[in-house]
Amino acid sequence: VKTILGIETSCDETSAAVVEEGERVRSVVTASQDDLHRRFGGVVPEIASRAHLQALIPAVEEALARGGVAREEIDAVAVSFRPGLAGSLLLGLTFAKAFAYARGLPLVGVDHLHAHVYAAALEHRVACPVVGLVVSGGHTALFYSEDLVEFELLGSTIDDAAGEAFDKVAAVLGLGYPGGPAIDRAAREGDPRRFSFPRTFRDSPELKFSFSGIKTAVRYHCQGHSSGKTPGRRMSRKETCDVAASFQEAVVDVLAAKLEQAVERTRPASVVIGGGVACNSRLRERIRGVFGGMVLIPAPRYCMDNAAMIAGLGCRLFEAGVSHDLTLDVDPRPVRAARIRAARRRRNDGRGTGTASRAG
Ligand code: KG4
Ligand code: ZN
Repeated sequence: VKTILGIETSCDETSAAVVEEGERVRSVVTASQDDLHRRFGGVVPEIASRAHLQALIPAVEEALARGGVAREEIDAVAVSFRPGLAGSLLLGLTFAKAFAYARGLPLVGVDHLHAHVYAAALEHRVACPVVGLVVSGGHTALFYSEDLVEFELLGSTIDDAAGEAFDKVAAVLGLGYPGGPAIDRAAREGDPRRFSFPRTFRDSPELKFSFSGIKTAVRYHCQGHSSGKTPGRRMSRKETCDVAASFQEAVVDVLAAKLEQAVERTRPASVVIGGGVACNSRLRERIRGVFGGMVLIPAPRYCMDNAAMIAGLGCRLFEAGVSHDLTLDVDPRPVRAARIRAARRRRNDGRGTGTASRAG
């Protein structure tokens, strides 16, 4: 039995988990920092790093205790090392290295976005090949995978992430932080057809996203179509809910259309979604409507940042021979398609992938 300790600190959630065989979750403990960042209306990197420093060891202790797992039972440590906030990633990676070094265990670095795709496999049998849509506060991307070990980037956002748009629009509407759940709730009382907001790239054949235009369109709408720093005009509760619903509908339209394009192009056996925005009730409903039984959607606790998805994918990577030495560094930027292709070429040359060493 492979028992993996997973560590996740890429943004503002401190999470530790113990997962067996890549899919049996013994325990997952996630400490949210929402209360610390709320008054700033967004994640403050310095505050996030310090909060990880305080919360991580207690989270690990609690994950081991709740799962009834002794330290001796852990076979490897998996940790998200990209992408994310550099300082936040460093906390998790440094802890993972220390734990692995102290116990003489293998260290497995995991790509946080690949793990969001993998999350569906914690609860479902995911038939491969699979197409995954990752929609979170920091990223919006489409992936293709033939084995849930290696992932190919099909396309991503050229500016804001979908979750970022939810958070900023919620701030403009005065709905609070984090914005995604607040818009989801307000939209239930609103009319999604009342206002027509831009659906950037929906009808373009290219697999790319852009959410800065819709964010600006909503801001102009709320300011009575004036630009600049004029304070928002007073909107009725009814109009606020209608704007929330119309905004959400436009974002969901684009996400569903792009996922359909990716599926037409790659003909996968299953479709998954992941990331915090995958908690959105309208998105879940729409994606289920479009893809039916082909789509697998994780429970909200596995959509949001969590260490179970890191431990799960870490187990698969470890089984495939991937492990990292103690010089592994964090990489704040997401991997672009060109870098994946370059890594493949290098591996085909027999020179390895640069950071990952494949044993056996
Ligand atoms: O994956 P995640 O926990 O963190 C990142 O890796 O970014 O995603 C957080 C994002 C936030 O932008 C939050 O507003 C959004 O997910 N979110 C939602 C919902 N719940 C969380 N967006 C729309 N609808 C929701 N119900
Ligand atoms: Zn995430």
